[in-house]
Amino acid sequence: MKALILTCCSSAALILSNGVQADVMGLEFNSDHYESKTIEYAGQSIQYRAYESIPYVIKPVVSDYQVMNIYIPEAYFQGGSIQGYQAETAPIFLPNQVGGYMPGKAMVVGTNDRTGQANSALVALSKGLVVAAPAARGRTNQTADGRWAGKAPAAIVDLKAAVRYLHYNDAAMPGDANKIVSNGTSAGGALSALLGASADSTDYDTYLAALGAAPGSDAIWAVSAYCPITNLEHADMAYEWQFNGYNDYQKMNISMLDYQVKRELVAGTLTKEEQQVSDQLKPLFPEYVNSLGLKDSSGYPLTLDQDGNGSFKDAVVAYIQASAQNALEKGQDLSGLEFVTIDQGRVTAIDWDKYRSYAERQKLPPAFDALDLSAGENNLFGNALIDNQHFTEFSVQHSTMSGKRVSESTVKLMNTMNYIGTSDAQTAEHWRIRVGTKDRDTSLAISAILAAKLENTGHDVDYFLPWDVPHSGDYDLDELFAWIKSIQ
Ligand code: DHB
Repeated sequence: MKALILTCCSSAALILSNGVQADVMGLEFNSDHYESKTIEYAGQSIQYRAYESIPYVIKPVVSDYQVMNIYIPEAYFQGGSIQGYQAETAPIFLPNQVGGYMPGKAMVVGTNDRTGQANSALVALSKGLVVAAPAARGRTNQTADGRWAGKAPAAIVDLKAAVRYLHYNDAAMPGDANKIVSNGTSAGGALSALLGASADSTDYDTYLAALGAAPGSDAIWAVSAYCPITNLEHADMAYEWQFNGYNDYQKMNISMLDYQVKRELVAGTLTKEEQQVSDQLKPLFPEYVNSLGLKDSSGYPLTLDQDGNGSFKDAVVAYIQASAQNALEKGQDLSGLEFVTIDQGRVTAIDWDKYRSYAERQKLPPAFDALDLSAGENNLFGNALIDNQHFTEFSVQHSTMSGKRVSESTVKLMNTMNYIGTSDAQTAEHWRIRVGTKDRDTSLAISAILAAKLENTGHDVDYFLPWDVPHSGDYDLDELFAWIKSIQ
């Protein structure tokens, strides 16, 4: 049977040889297939329509994970408005639940298991946002034939496909697809940032086409990223820039690096060989930072000398200092902390070396591209047939497993830094980045570099390090949604 594909308007049609027009996309939003629900939150009774497990591609590889849950306030079907938003104007909140680059389930409106509080989907609904919560494949997914099916770049391709679904169905769905706000934590924070940085880049087109993603844009308007584990190929050197010489560690006793999993830590000290690896990695970082040509908000270059000192380090210290000042003003007692100097109600200095021992090393060098291929990130950069691979020159050279190296083009697809402000991408306009001062899953340098790059390319960036907060996310949802309101 011959078929002809015609693309017209916003949907594609398949004309069969008998002249019948069939729906090829299968991605049209069906507003009639929902469950009506009510949930109590913060003294309000929220009525909404739940459209769950909606496929966002027509040729899924792991069908359980290439779906999303869509939640829409009932008011938007009745011509109502919530907190100033209407059906046509409400932003679409897009939370992913990826942790540890593992497969991420679609969020369900309700409770956050970690905090016991309302999850971000519920808070979003209560504030009048439409929620589109995609699942995404991750590094341990397999197909029936045993092939790995969620290695890089699967997760970001899935999230882009979900965004395309929302643009494709913009006219049919309440919520404004030109106002999509992505949210995620850790690996999910990195993916949220990557989604915003690389929007509409043609680099992902072949992957999206292979899945049968909706045609059109995958642009988003705003990014919320909690502790993004991004810029992976430079994260080892950044970690040693921060922790070199600090040899005691509190390492996680599980290899699954997921912020959602309860953490148990095992104390230890780096061996002589590990200290040597740290000494080799640290000096690679200044060269990388200097190559970026970053500037602070007054246009002053952010650089490092060969010992790792300089204006970039001062800027990171200033972010910690601003956080301490904020905590002090909120009435927290910082007097017992050796790394904080307070004079007459002002935080006047942060001692970087003492800060490092407060933060505590958590990872052994190299922190991400492990020489024995044991890191979650080695697992992320496997392929259909190889479970774990290296992704940096350093670790290929020093591999204890004669590990293979993933292609550079795949590494490129996973790094936010490669897309910000480039002509191939429509980088999101608004950014909110949060990393706690007690977070040592990656160096603070990683988010500082991301924020500076975004600011230097003219984006609206709200970057702050919440005081004493460990590796986690969604802990300040009222502030997050106030920020979303403020960027209108
Ligand atoms: C996560 C944590 C890590 O330490 C890491 O390397 C990657 C991901 C996470 O919690 O998602």
